[in-house]
Amino acid sequence: MTADYRYSRLAYVALNVTDLGRTLAFYTDIVGLDATEIADGQAALRCGPDHHNVLLNRAPEPGLKRIGFELESEDDLERAFRHLECCGYTPAWLDAEECAALHQGPGLRFRHPGTGLPLEYFIDMERMAEPFGARLARIARLGHVVVSTPDLPAMRDSLMRDLGFVLSDEVDGMIAFLRCFPNPFHHSLGIARADENRLHHVNFMVTDIDDVGRALNRLKKNEVEIVYGPGRHPPSGSIFLYFLDPDGMTVEFSFGMEEFAETGARAPRLMPPVPESLDFWGGLPSLDFARVGRYESAG
Ligand SMILES: [Fe+2]
Repeated sequence: MTADYRYSRLAYVALNVTDLGRTLAFYTDIVGLDATEIADGQAALRCGPDHHNVLLNRAPEPGLKRIGFELESEDDLERAFRHLECCGYTPAWLDAEECAALHQGPGLRFRHPGTGLPLEYFIDMERMAEPFGARLARIARLGHVVVSTPDLPAMRDSLMRDLGFVLSDEVDGMIAFLRCFPNPFHHSLGIARADENRLHHVNFMVTDIDDVGRALNRLKKNEVEIVYGPGRHPPSGSIFLYFLDPDGMTVEFSFGMEEFAETGARAPRLMPPVPESLDFWGGLPSLDFARVGRYESAG
């Protein structure tokens, strides 16, 4: 049975961080997000009209707490719950109190069974009255999250078969780029091959190439470790820059991305597994690239 529910978009990522104050300062003063709420070991940040696009959660170990996708409607959410149960996943509805605390409508959570990837589906994120400040960078949106896994084909196939993701492109055996159909962006979720299941990187799309150039100088001035780029990704055509947050989790700024129509989209391309398939400009990532970010353990 194919997934019969529609995604609206990748809405937010929740990260576990070891020093909330330091990491909050990094995401506000260097990345350029706006804080909307700070309380009880948690901070909500945004890069658009939403209440949050990033949640920071104080924890003993850094890592990925969950990825939140917004669906189009309450009907989609209910269909998703039934579909996940049919696929042998174990979705659980969020209680009303938590939804209210998150400034979201109803939602459900589950883990991808093969890898433990923690996911949330929900509807109706609260929108803020004030526009996003764009004080440091004209961030357009939380662009995508990429996760690593030892068995890329198995994870890719199950996300496509069970969760309705559509393949946009793949660098053979290295990374697969998936869009959350019918959202038009080339990828909201990526799967990279690595030695374990963990976070690979979190991406913010910016609206101008100058935002990437200014970030480069801001990062250098603040002695933030740059781990890949600036360069240009052939699969999506975007200009990229990767750097590390205070816990060593990898963050990306990028500019430009192909969009796909809901019907009649081109077929996915398979690119050879060579460095030029990831950077037209021939750059290579450093050893610290995409190393940190275990999934929060269940329970
Ligand atoms: Fe990326």
